[in-house]
Amino acid sequence: MDAAAGDSRDGKKRWLRVCPLSDVADGTLQKFEDHEGGRRMLVANQGGAIRVTDLMCTHEDADLSTGFLGPDGVRCPLHLSVFDLESGCPLNPPAEKPVQVYNIRVDDGQIYVEA
Ligand code: FES
Repeated sequence: MDAAAGDSRDGKKRWLRVCPLSDVADGTLQKFEDHEGGRRMLVANQGGAIRVTDLMCTHEDADLSTGFLGPDGVRCPLHLSVFDLESGCPLNPPAEKPVQVYNIRVDDGQIYVEA
């Protein structure tokens, strides 16, 4: 998924349109790349709650969008640390550092992330 046209500014915040909400079904993970800003993010629908974090695991070079989404968070596909998607914190080793969590909003059926 690439950065979509239609970025918006809300006061001093810059909101980047990620994708339609309908593209992220409940229980699924998506990859989002903001080529302009150079960021790669994970978009997750966890029981209807949309969460956006950095894409890469903080332990080694693993793409979390290829991991597994469960009620506790996303499980890294490489060494199986689980990251809480609200706090970004790892719940078990070997990962020790949290992934960055982004503020999101859903407006008119579109997911936006605060850039
Ligand atoms: S690369 Fe994710 S836990 Fe090791």
